[in-house]
Amino acid sequence: MLADFGLAKLARSVRKLTAIGTVFGTPEYMSPEQATGESLGPGADQYSLSVVAYEMLTGRVPFHGDTPGAVLISHIRRAMPATSELPGELSAHVDEVLRRGMAKAPRDRYATVSEFVAALTPAAWPSFLGDERAADRPGDGLPVVLVVDDGAANRELIEACLAGINCEIRTADSGITALAMIEAAPPDLVLLDVQMPGMDGYEVCLRIKARPRGELLPVVMITALDQVHDRVMALEAGADDFMSKPVERIELVARVRAALRLKALYDKLDSVEQVIFSLAAAVEAKDSFTERHTKRVGESARMVGELMKLPEADLDALYRGGIVHDIGKIGVPDSILLKPGPLEVDEQVSMHAHPVIGEAIVRPLRSGTSLLPIIRHHHEHFDGTGYPDRLRGAEIPRLARIVSVCDAYDALVSDRPYRPGLAPEEAMAVLHRGAGTQWDPEVVSLFSSQIHSINALGAA
Ligand SMILES: [Fe+2]
Repeated sequence: MLADFGLAKLARSVRKLTAIGTVFGTPEYMSPEQATGESLGPGADQYSLSVVAYEMLTGRVPFHGDTPGAVLISHIRRAMPATSELPGELSAHVDEVLRRGMAKAPRDRYATVSEFVAALTPAAWPSFLGDERAADRPGDGLPVVLVVDDGAANRELIEACLAGINCEIRTADSGITALAMIEAAPPDLVLLDVQMPGMDGYEVCLRIKARPRGELLPVVMITALDQVHDRVMALEAGADDFMSKPVERIELVARVRAALRLKALYDKLDSVEQVIFSLAAAVEAKDSFTERHTKRVGESARMVGELMKLPEADLDALYRGGIVHDIGKIGVPDSILLKPGPLEVDEQVSMHAHPVIGEAIVRPLRSGTSLLPIIRHHHEHFDGTGYPDRLRGAEIPRLARIVSVCDAYDALVSDRPYRPGLAPEEAMAVLHRGAGTQWDPEVVSLFSSQIHSINALGAA
């Protein structure tokens, strides 16, 4: 039996829950001697504590893997990855302390946990944080932390704990108030109490995460009970982190700091996404005949998604996917893209590569994952004769089937280098004729039912 430091006590008192050979606990926090089944001493706790400190300071655990076994092997064999994202001097200090705390052999670690904590303390002290925040968000104003708790005393306590962090603190005394505040002006982090009258913290968290791009707003849940069940509930509600009451100042400061770093990273991803959207606009601008095409595709695709009662996350993907679906055309030569007339076979091959090129451009974006099926499959045909994968019917991702119809309609009514745009009713007739062969008949029928609103988008 292997037990991590957090659950070891539970394991001892509830022996029947464990069995020989069972990994009980969280491998990410286990020491090498736990992983190999050797006898455990105080050094194992110090190792685990070092892992927690590493995670609080960097926002990630030092060793991770696809399976518990892979994680355990990393603890035994791999050197601790450098805490390179911390500012220079702090990083060197933290690295040195953590490396000793996480030494593979217990005899190479600090003599006591107190000694380890004393060595690390200057790194976790809040006075360092203001400078770091400024470094993380140059010229971008203070990060905003929203504290949600029904108890005034708890809100004040958290506010006092965060006094050393260079951030703006807002407070809400209920879930409903918090959601309204988030809607009006999204914060950078939400510290969320679980037990509140009316809407509890889990529900509030679910609603925050269900908002468009809600996954990019970190939520730290504060649970009154230190129970595994509460933590599982928090994770299922989409929380990014959790901590227990009573809140310890140093722990809270470290967690807030890690969460704000995560948010700064998300914000950077957003800027990358902005670049991608600018690229999409550049692709559009290459062909003056398709001015505003992609925006209209995004808007009409979202409209069809609403009719299908798709979740908000899908509607968001439809809008963004409608805009960037042809991003891969950036890899198609202008001589082919703008050719006034039918394409030769080799030119067609080049043109048909654009969904795959587009997918490769957007794949590195974390926030672009939901767009990939749209980008790759927007030229598949319902009867399996499209490209690039010749998918048919329901094999084609639903969002791609929607964008495909919206894209085709807008292309048909727009002027092209080799032909003027069709009248709306002629374009609709083309879609109806192709329903069941090129396009999903259900999507064509829904699209057709909304044709007046879609034409009002300025497509015609
Ligand atoms: Fe396309």
